[in-house]
Amino acid sequence: MLDPMIVCHGGAGHTAKDQPGVDHAADSGWSILMAGGSALDAVLAAVEIMENDPVLNAGTGGRKRADGSVQLDAAVATSDGRLGAIMAIEETPNPVHVAAGLLDEPIHILVGQGARDWADAQGFEKAHVEGSDSPSGNDTVGCVAIDQNGFMAVASSTGGCTGRPRGRVGDTPLWGPGLWVDEGIALAATGIGEEITIKMLCHRVAIQKGTLQERLEYGLSLFDPETEVGLIGITANGEGLGLANTKMPWAIRSANH
Ligand code: GLY
Repeated sequence: MLDPMIVCHGGAGHTAKDQPGVDHAADSGWSILMAGGSALDAVLAAVEIMENDPVLNAGTGGRKRADGSVQLDAAVATSDGRLGAIMAIEETPNPVHVAAGLLDEPIHILVGQGARDWADAQGFEKAHVEGSDSPSGNDTVGCVAIDQNGFMAVASSTGGCTGRPRGRVGDTPLWGPGLWVDEGIALAATGIGEEITIKMLCHRVAIQKGTLQERLEYGLSLFDPETEVGLIGITANGEGLGLANTKMPWAIRSANH
């Protein structure tokens, strides 16, 4: 049996006042891992809690688009090579579950009304999402976990950066920039989606050598210090960390934390 671990973040640019929701999410995922549950179940439970927290920029608290709408992005991936992603979906309080619904489908990514139509057909909850007018907290929530079998998973969810146009997609649901998981490492990014996407951030960190700290530092070093960016990661060697060039609430739970 391996030592499980979970790391959650509440978004680069968020401050300590947003820490309680991140702690709650980490505790919830940790209890699943300690009971022998899977990394996938742990990250989904953690991200659902953060999507339901109105101060965090995901699900219920998703920041509004320029036209006042709330369009949400989410993605889930696993170390056995599965991916599901949803982009610019509306009327969906917990897009992370819709993304997870695509893990075992022959298609892996759905966008906009097509995503919502598929979610309707599968019976995922449809409801008005109030969203948040907060000008701060431009970012995402995310979680990475490794379970007792050494299986890893990552999940991310966001309303996108405040005031972007309808249809805009940032890094969060994009495999490579916004999230990555293989047999050795699981990563989720947070920050300005356009910059993270251009840098292909998570993939570039994944292929770096060194400790997790060194790899995350390398990732942040790719950006102008004025560009808000953060990362969380877990490795199969038992490392877990969150790092950002801004304030970023994050939490880790393992046998040692
Ligand atoms: N990182 C979240 C976004 O840019 O949409």
